[in-house]
Amino acid sequence: MQPEFIIIHQQVAPYVAHIQLNRPKELNALNLQLMGELRDALKLLDADDQVRAIVLSGNDKAFAAGADIKQMAEKSAIDMFNTDQFSTWDAIKKTKKPIIAAVSGFALGGGCELSMLCDMIVASETARFGQPEIKLGVMPGAGGTQRLTRAVGKARAMEMVLTGRFITAEEAMQAGLINRVVPVDLFLQEAVKLASEVAAMAPLAVKMAKEAVLKAFDSTLEEGLQFERKNFYLLFASEDQKEGMKAFTEKRTPDFTGR
Ligand code: HXC
Repeated sequence: MQPEFIIIHQQVAPYVAHIQLNRPKELNALNLQLMGELRDALKLLDADDQVRAIVLSGNDKAFAAGADIKQMAEKSAIDMFNTDQFSTWDAIKKTKKPIIAAVSGFALGGGCELSMLCDMIVASETARFGQPEIKLGVMPGAGGTQRLTRAVGKARAMEMVLTGRFITAEEAMQAGLINRVVPVDLFLQEAVKLASEVAAMAPLAVKMAKEAVLKAFDSTLEEGLQFERKNFYLLFASEDQKEGMKAFTEKRTPDFTGR
Protein backbone atom coordinates (compact mmCIF):
# COMPACT_ATOMS: atom_id res chain seq x y z
CA MET A 1 0.00 0.00 0.00
CA GLN A 2 1.20 3.53 -0.78
CA PRO A 3 2.16 5.45 2.34
CA GLU A 4 0.00 8.47 3.10
CA PHE A 5 2.26 10.61 5.27
CA ILE A 6 5.71 10.03 3.82
CA ILE A 7 7.18 10.23 0.32
CA ILE A 8 9.93 7.81 -0.66
CA HIS A 9 12.44 8.84 -3.33
CA GLN A 10 14.35 5.69 -4.14
CA GLN A 11 17.47 7.24 -5.78
CA VAL A 12 18.11 10.96 -5.30
CA ALA A 13 21.80 10.32 -5.99
CA PRO A 14 23.72 7.10 -6.64
CA TYR A 15 22.88 4.71 -3.79
CA VAL A 16 21.10 7.44 -1.80
CA ALA A 17 17.40 7.26 -0.93
CA HIS A 18 15.33 10.09 0.53
CA ILE A 19 12.30 9.83 2.77
CA GLN A 20 10.26 12.99 3.21
CA LEU A 21 7.84 13.38 6.11
CA ASN A 22 4.70 14.73 4.52
CA ARG A 23 2.01 16.11 6.82
CA PRO A 24 2.78 19.75 6.03
CA LYS A 25 -0.44 21.25 7.42
CA GLU A 26 0.29 19.70 10.82
CA LEU A 27 4.00 20.63 10.65
CA ASN A 28 4.74 16.93 10.17
CA ALA A 29 3.38 16.00 13.59
CA LEU A 30 4.34 12.38 14.09
CA ASN A 31 1.12 10.41 14.39
CA LEU A 32 1.19 6.64 14.80
CA GLN A 33 0.46 5.97 11.13
CA LEU A 34 3.31 8.21 9.96
CA MET A 35 5.76 6.49 12.31
CA GLY A 36 4.57 3.07 11.13
CA GLU A 37 5.06 4.11 7.51
CA LEU A 38 8.53 5.43 8.32
CA ARG A 39 9.47 2.17 10.07
CA ASP A 40 8.27 0.12 7.07
CA ALA A 41 10.06 2.33 4.54
CA LEU A 42 13.34 2.18 6.45
CA LYS A 43 13.08 -1.60 6.70
CA LEU A 44 12.65 -1.87 2.93
CA LEU A 45 15.48 0.55 2.16
CA ASP A 46 17.75 -1.20 4.66
CA ALA A 47 17.29 -4.42 2.67
CA ASP A 48 17.75 -2.78 -0.76
CA ASP A 49 21.21 -3.27 -2.30
CA GLN A 50 20.76 -0.15 -4.38
CA VAL A 51 20.61 1.98 -1.23
CA ARG A 52 23.66 2.67 0.92
CA ALA A 53 22.61 5.82 2.79
CA ILE A 54 19.27 7.42 3.58
CA VAL A 55 18.28 11.07 3.94
CA LEU A 56 15.28 11.86 6.14
CA SER A 57 13.71 15.30 5.83
CA GLY A 58 10.58 17.29 6.41
CA ASN A 59 10.06 20.51 4.50
CA ASP A 60 11.47 24.05 4.80
CA LYS A 61 9.12 24.97 7.65
CA ALA A 62 9.23 21.83 9.76
CA PHE A 63 11.22 18.66 10.11
CA ALA A 64 8.57 17.61 12.65
CA ALA A 65 6.83 19.58 15.42
CA GLY A 66 6.67 16.54 17.66
CA ALA A 67 4.38 13.64 18.36
CA ASP A 68 0.77 14.33 17.39
CA ILE A 69 -0.60 16.10 20.47
CA LYS A 70 -4.20 15.76 19.28
CA GLN A 71 -3.79 11.99 18.98
CA MET A 72 -2.34 11.75 22.51
CA ALA A 73 -4.40 14.32 24.40
CA GLU A 74 -7.16 12.04 25.70
CA LYS A 75 -5.09 8.91 26.18
CA SER A 76 -4.74 7.22 29.56
CA ALA A 77 -1.49 5.73 30.84
CA ILE A 78 -2.88 2.27 30.07
CA ASP A 79 -3.76 3.36 26.49
CA MET A 80 -0.20 4.63 26.08
CA PHE A 81 1.22 1.41 27.51
CA ASN A 82 -0.96 -0.77 25.28
CA THR A 83 -0.28 1.30 22.15
CA ASP A 84 3.43 0.68 22.71
CA GLN A 85 4.40 3.36 20.21
CA PHE A 86 8.06 3.04 21.09
CA SER A 87 8.33 -0.41 19.53
CA THR A 88 8.22 1.51 16.23
CA TRP A 89 11.06 3.74 17.40
CA ASP A 90 13.01 0.66 18.52
CA ALA A 91 12.58 -0.84 15.03
CA ILE A 92 13.78 2.39 13.40
CA LYS A 93 16.81 2.37 15.70
CA LYS A 94 17.80 -1.00 14.23
CA THR A 95 18.34 0.45 10.73
CA LYS A 96 21.86 -0.62 9.77
CA LYS A 97 22.46 1.92 7.02
CA PRO A 98 23.30 5.48 8.00
CA ILE A 99 20.45 7.96 8.13
CA ILE A 100 21.15 11.65 7.65
CA ALA A 101 18.49 14.02 8.96
CA ALA A 102 17.95 17.12 6.85
CA VAL A 103 16.34 19.57 9.27
CA SER A 104 14.77 22.91 8.45
CA GLY A 105 12.33 24.78 10.67
CA PHE A 106 10.89 23.03 13.71
CA ALA A 107 12.45 19.89 15.16
CA LEU A 108 10.54 19.71 18.41
CA GLY A 109 9.72 17.02 20.94
CA GLY A 110 9.49 13.74 19.04
CA GLY A 111 10.78 15.65 15.98
CA CYS A 112 13.99 16.58 17.78
CA GLU A 113 14.19 13.02 19.09
CA LEU A 114 13.72 11.59 15.60
CA SER A 115 16.52 13.80 14.25
CA MET A 116 18.75 12.56 17.09
CA LEU A 117 17.88 8.95 16.25
CA CYS A 118 19.48 9.64 12.87
CA ASP A 119 23.24 9.32 12.55
CA MET A 120 24.06 12.84 11.38
CA ILE A 121 22.11 16.07 11.12
CA VAL A 122 22.37 18.73 8.43
CA ALA A 123 20.36 21.80 9.41
CA SER A 124 19.19 24.93 7.67
CA GLU A 125 19.75 28.31 9.29
CA THR A 126 16.08 28.37 10.29
CA ALA A 127 16.19 25.07 12.17
CA ARG A 128 14.98 25.16 15.77
CA PHE A 129 15.59 22.22 18.08
CA GLY A 130 13.63 21.83 21.28
CA GLN A 131 12.01 19.53 23.80
CA PRO A 132 8.89 21.50 24.74
CA GLU A 133 7.01 18.55 26.29
CA ILE A 134 7.36 20.13 29.73
CA LYS A 135 4.95 22.86 28.59
CA LEU A 136 2.36 20.15 27.92
CA GLY A 137 2.68 18.69 31.40
CA VAL A 138 4.80 15.77 30.29
CA MET A 139 8.45 15.14 29.40
CA PRO A 140 10.42 13.69 26.50
CA GLY A 141 9.71 10.00 25.89
CA ALA A 142 11.72 8.99 22.83
CA GLY A 143 15.25 9.74 23.91
CA GLY A 144 15.10 13.48 24.58
CA THR A 145 16.52 13.20 28.07
CA GLN A 146 19.18 10.68 27.02
CA ARG A 147 20.43 11.37 23.49
CA LEU A 148 20.19 15.14 23.91
CA THR A 149 22.15 15.03 27.16
CA ARG A 150 24.84 12.88 25.59
CA ALA A 151 25.04 15.24 22.61
CA VAL A 152 24.95 18.67 24.25
CA GLY A 153 25.85 17.98 27.88
CA LYS A 154 23.90 18.26 31.12
CA ALA A 155 23.66 22.04 31.44
CA ARG A 156 22.13 22.71 28.05
CA ALA A 157 19.97 19.56 28.01
CA MET A 158 18.60 20.31 31.48
CA GLU A 159 17.66 23.84 30.42
CA MET A 160 16.01 22.68 27.19
CA VAL A 161 14.08 19.87 28.87
CA LEU A 162 13.02 21.85 31.96
CA THR A 163 12.09 25.13 30.24
CA GLY A 164 11.17 23.95 26.75
CA ARG A 165 13.47 26.59 25.24
CA PHE A 166 14.30 26.08 21.58
CA ILE A 167 17.88 26.38 20.39
CA THR A 168 18.90 27.75 17.01
CA ALA A 169 20.84 25.82 14.40
CA GLU A 170 23.90 27.87 15.28
CA GLU A 171 23.61 26.95 18.99
CA ALA A 172 23.00 23.32 18.04
CA MET A 173 26.14 23.42 15.93
CA GLN A 174 28.22 24.89 18.74
CA ALA A 175 26.82 22.32 21.16
CA GLY A 176 27.78 19.40 18.91
CA LEU A 177 24.22 18.28 18.20
CA ILE A 178 24.46 18.71 14.44
CA ASN A 179 27.01 18.41 11.65
CA ARG A 180 26.36 21.43 9.39
CA VAL A 181 24.35 24.62 9.14
CA VAL A 182 23.56 25.84 5.63
CA PRO A 183 21.14 28.30 4.00
CA VAL A 184 17.55 27.02 3.72
CA ASP A 185 17.68 26.50 -0.02
CA LEU A 186 20.67 24.20 0.39
CA PHE A 187 19.84 22.02 3.38
CA LEU A 188 18.46 19.07 1.45
CA GLN A 189 21.14 19.28 -1.21
CA GLU A 190 23.84 19.38 1.48
CA ALA A 191 22.33 16.35 3.27
CA VAL A 192 22.24 14.40 -0.01
CA LYS A 193 25.86 15.42 -0.62
CA LEU A 194 26.90 14.11 2.80
CA ALA A 195 24.88 10.91 2.24
CA SER A 196 26.57 10.50 -1.16
CA GLU A 197 29.99 10.77 0.45
CA VAL A 198 29.06 7.96 2.84
CA ALA A 199 27.42 5.95 0.05
CA ALA A 200 30.71 5.98 -1.87
CA MET A 201 32.39 4.00 0.93
CA ALA A 202 32.32 0.22 1.38
CA PRO A 203 28.77 -0.56 2.55
CA LEU A 204 29.71 -3.30 5.00
CA ALA A 205 32.38 -1.15 6.60
CA VAL A 206 29.89 1.72 6.87
CA LYS A 207 27.30 -0.45 8.62
CA MET A 208 29.82 -1.96 11.01
CA ALA A 209 31.41 1.40 11.75
CA LYS A 210 27.96 2.90 12.48
CA GLU A 211 27.21 -0.01 14.81
CA ALA A 212 30.52 0.47 16.61
CA VAL A 213 30.10 4.25 17.05
CA LEU A 214 26.61 3.69 18.50
CA LYS A 215 28.06 1.09 20.84
CA ALA A 216 30.00 3.90 22.51
CA PHE A 217 26.72 5.14 23.97
CA ASP A 218 25.85 2.04 25.92
CA SER A 219 29.04 0.25 26.79
CA THR A 220 32.09 0.70 28.92
CA LEU A 221 35.23 1.81 27.06
CA GLU A 222 36.67 -1.70 27.28
CA GLU A 223 33.47 -3.36 25.96
CA GLY A 224 33.29 -0.79 23.17
CA LEU A 225 36.92 -1.36 22.21
CA GLN A 226 36.39 -5.13 22.09
CA PHE A 227 33.29 -4.64 19.94
CA GLU A 228 35.16 -2.31 17.60
CA ARG A 229 38.03 -4.80 17.28
CA LYS A 230 35.68 -7.68 16.35
CA ASN A 231 34.03 -5.59 13.62
CA PHE A 232 37.46 -4.49 12.38
CA TYR A 233 38.64 -8.13 12.10
CA LEU A 234 35.36 -9.17 10.49
CA LEU A 235 35.77 -6.66 7.67
CA PHE A 236 38.88 -8.57 6.56
CA ALA A 237 36.45 -11.28 5.43
CA SER A 238 34.94 -8.86 2.90
CA GLU A 239 35.83 -8.47 -0.77
CA ASP A 240 35.62 -4.72 -0.31
CA GLN A 241 38.55 -4.76 2.13
CA LYS A 242 40.68 -6.46 -0.53
CA GLU A 243 39.41 -4.05 -3.18
CA GLY A 244 39.88 -0.97 -0.99
CA MET A 245 43.48 -1.78 -0.10
CA LYS A 246 44.35 -2.95 -3.64
CA ALA A 247 42.91 0.25 -5.10
CA PHE A 248 45.06 2.26 -2.70
CA THR A 249 48.26 0.57 -3.84
CA GLU A 250 47.19 0.87 -7.50
CA LYS A 251 46.37 4.58 -6.97
CA ARG A 252 42.80 4.27 -8.25
CA THR A 253 39.29 4.74 -6.90
CA PRO A 254 37.96 1.52 -5.32
CA ASP A 255 34.90 -0.14 -6.78
CA PHE A 256 32.97 -1.30 -3.73
CA THR A 257 30.24 -3.90 -4.13
CA GLY A 258 29.02 -4.43 -0.58
CA ARG A 259 30.41 -7.96 -0.43
C1 HXC B 1 -0.42 18.03 16.49
C2 HXC B 1 0.38 20.01 15.67
C3 HXC B 1 1.60 19.83 16.35
C4 HXC B 1 1.75 18.64 17.14
C5 HXC B 1 1.69 21.69 15.29
N1 HXC B 1 0.48 21.17 15.02
N2 HXC B 1 2.39 20.90 16.11
N3 HXC B 1 -0.61 19.11 15.75
N4 HXC B 1 0.71 17.78 17.17
N5 HXC B 1 2.87 18.36 17.79
C6 HXC B 1 -0.57 21.72 14.18
C7 HXC B 1 -1.28 22.89 14.84
O1 HXC B 1 -2.30 22.43 15.71
C8 HXC B 1 -1.85 23.62 13.63
O2 HXC B 1 -3.00 22.93 13.14
C9 HXC B 1 -0.77 23.42 12.59
O3 HXC B 1 0.00 22.29 13.01
C10 HXC B 1 0.16 24.62 12.49
O4 HXC B 1 0.65 24.92 13.79
P1 HXC B 1 0.57 26.39 14.45
O5 HXC B 1 0.69 26.22 15.91
O6 HXC B 1 -0.61 27.13 13.93
O7 HXC B 1 1.90 27.04 13.84
P2 HXC B 1 2.82 28.16 14.48
O8 HXC B 1 2.01 29.26 15.11
O9 HXC B 1 3.81 28.51 13.41
O10 HXC B 1 3.59 27.43 15.70
C11 HXC B 1 4.48 26.40 15.42
C12 HXC B 1 4.85 25.64 16.72
C13 HXC B 1 3.56 25.16 17.42
C14 HXC B 1 5.66 26.53 17.64
C15 HXC B 1 5.73 24.46 16.29
O11 HXC B 1 2.73 24.48 16.45
C16 HXC B 1 3.82 24.22 18.54
O12 HXC B 1 4.17 24.63 19.65
N6 HXC B 1 3.58 22.91 18.31
C17 HXC B 1 3.71 21.90 19.35
C18 HXC B 1 5.16 21.58 19.62
C19 HXC B 1 5.27 20.58 20.73
O13 HXC B 1 4.86 20.80 21.87
N7 HXC B 1 5.85 19.40 20.43
C20 HXC B 1 6.01 18.31 21.37
C21 HXC B 1 4.84 17.36 21.28
S1 HXC B 1 4.90 16.09 22.50
P3 HXC B 1 -4.48 23.54 13.33
O14 HXC B 1 -5.33 22.60 12.53
O15 HXC B 1 -4.73 23.49 14.79
O16 HXC B 1 -4.39 24.91 12.77
C22 HXC B 1 6.05 15.02 21.92
C23 HXC B 1 6.28 13.84 22.76
C24 HXC B 1 7.21 12.88 22.10
O17 HXC B 1 6.61 15.19 20.88
C25 HXC B 1 7.07 11.51 22.70
C26 HXC B 1 7.68 10.45 21.86
C27 HXC B 1 7.09 10.20 20.53
